[in-house]
Amino acid sequence: MGDLKVIQTVSDMHRTADEMRASGLRIGLVPTMGYLHGGHLSLIRQARRASDRVVVSIFVNPMQFGPQEDYATYPSDFERDVKLIQGMGGDLVYAPSAKEMYPEGYATYVAVERLTQHLCGPTRPRHFRGVTTVVTKLFAAVKPHVAVLGQKDAQQAVVVRQMVRDLDLDVEIRVAPTVREADGLARSSRNVYLSPGERREAPVLYQALQEARSLVAQGERRAAVVVEAMRQRIAARPHARIDYVCVVNAEDLRPVEALSGAVLFALAVRFGKARLIDNFQVSL
Ligand code: PAF
Repeated sequence: MGDLKVIQTVSDMHRTADEMRASGLRIGLVPTMGYLHGGHLSLIRQARRASDRVVVSIFVNPMQFGPQEDYATYPSDFERDVKLIQGMGGDLVYAPSAKEMYPEGYATYVAVERLTQHLCGPTRPRHFRGVTTVVTKLFAAVKPHVAVLGQKDAQQAVVVRQMVRDLDLDVEIRVAPTVREADGLARSSRNVYLSPGERREAPVLYQALQEARSLVAQGERRAAVVVEAMRQRIAARPHARIDYVCVVNAEDLRPVEALSGAVLFALAVRFGKARLIDNFQVSL
């Protein structure tokens, strides 16, 4: 196992990134908010294949949480994360403090329009502005050649790709498949919020997506019919509170009526304190 370096300041990160680039090394970045699980580990694996040095950032970004959301209680275990990253062959952890990222007087934001009005946009109004701002800052500090994001956060990946295109950022975005528990529940740091009863019901997100998949395989092309089948399946679980169940165009994220081309089936469902999201994409 190689030595894992932990960097906490922007200036150290700049210097180290410059040194890596000067040595001709390709830098891969896996941006995270910590409390790592199997999904993150697969992102690190993908970054290792695509680069010479893997930087994992751990930063719980206050800017992407709404006032009623779980910023203050977001789970964390830095020591465990560092061990996992080391075990996966990561080279560097970038873990700045909130003060380092947003010092007194901070006033700059990066916002992607249109794409952020759909899916999670209406219920999390400032969320994506927080994500794109912090990802821009992470790109500026780490100077990665490639960054790896997860398909579970499909909208985030589409929004970040758009931002990279629009701002001419020289970073390749790769998206790694969702990693699931044996019963289909997508891995998420927020799964720890689930009570045992909620945890038993939570795989219904995956089951609803599977139902959509089989309806489509049988030839169903009416989005409303597929959405209704997914809604009914989820609503049958007593702890589930649907935030949205949508079928959208996978590129512009606008809702579709007839299923054709690349479409994304996406849902967000609350179970008690946890708001879970999941999706699958298909080309018809
Ligand atoms: O997906 C996440 O964990 C976060 O949104 C990210 C990309 C690390 C930005 O804070």
